[in-house]
Amino acid sequence: MSRFLSRNTRELIPYVPGEQPKDKVFVKLNTNENPYPPSPLVMERIRNFDLGDLRLYPNNEGAIVKQAVSKYYGISADEVFVGNGSDEVLAFIFKAFFDETEKIGFPDITYSFYPVYCALFNIPYVKVPVADDFSIDLSLYPEDLKGIIFANPNAPTGIYIAPSRIEELLKSRPDTLVIVDEAYIDFGGESCAGLIRMYDNLIIVQTLSKSRSLAGMRVGFAMGCKELMDGLARIKDSFNSYPLDKIAQIAAEAAFIDTEYFNETRQKIINTRQWTQEKLLSLGIQVTDSKANFLFVKIPEVPGPEALTKLRQEGILVRHFNSPRICDWLRITIGTQEQMEILVEKIKKIMEG
Ligand SMILES: Cc1ncc(COP(=O)(O)O)c(C=O)c1O
Repeated sequence: MSRFLSRNTRELIPYVPGEQPKDKVFVKLNTNENPYPPSPLVMERIRNFDLGDLRLYPNNEGAIVKQAVSKYYGISADEVFVGNGSDEVLAFIFKAFFDETEKIGFPDITYSFYPVYCALFNIPYVKVPVADDFSIDLSLYPEDLKGIIFANPNAPTGIYIAPSRIEELLKSRPDTLVIVDEAYIDFGGESCAGLIRMYDNLIIVQTLSKSRSLAGMRVGFAMGCKELMDGLARIKDSFNSYPLDKIAQIAAEAAFIDTEYFNETRQKIINTRQWTQEKLLSLGIQVTDSKANFLFVKIPEVPGPEALTKLRQEGILVRHFNSPRICDWLRITIGTQEQMEILVEKIKKIMEG
């Protein structure tokens, strides 16, 4: 470590992203990417893009994407904020609405980037344990929190909370900022987007990395009342005023226009998830009721790290988290039907010893 690092940087424990293998021999089920390519319309728009136009900076607020999101959800462009992947949008949220004096709460089992942002921005946080079945009880969150954040469906469990329960929280705590990370909402859940006009304490975060097959493009967005979105723009314009490049903007727009392809591919993933879940359950494996593009599974008698290593030896990458409550569980992304058939066979082989 360089001696020039600040104390805060030295003490950070950065988020560890899932492995991106250099070779292509693995069945890659470790980072919740979409197994299907982006929509043909996205590819066409990128192919037809006038590369000479890259000479000029893009629109600084990602206006093309804002318009596309506002049209899709029937809200105003002022109620949308876009960023370079939802990780960046989340970072801006932590920075814009919290500081060392304001506590935020999140489940003890959730997206592991949240505590990293807290450490980066010196924000105190409270982890509220999920139940043994991994469900989140929103009534358990302390009253003195400035904000609450959770993923819905949650990661890495896939457990989903209905908007009506989130609305109860918004109503009962008008002075608590509630941030719902809907990275996986398109795989069977219902978005809380319809609530942003009624509650000025709600921010929704979404990404095009999962259901719209654009992880490599880095596009994410937030939805909320204009005042909250203006707050995020203050941070963006103090950090990087042109976060979304021109090609990403037209690609994202096309992904929203081609609803037919979007619906077809997400339904395929939902069907494959259901097939895989049933197969694994029939083998006596514990599987959560996931509404995301992944399953959270526990193979009986095989410790998590061992299952991870054995699957890797069999050519399959999955995700394991070194956290005590879930160290025997694996998060497995839903790939194509063929990939999941291979997975089931390999798990059977591991169970047979
Ligand atoms: C819950 C959750 N939120 C946000 C993200 C970030 O996605 P991206 O930065 O690709 O938009 C992820 C990525 O895996 C995630 O699992």
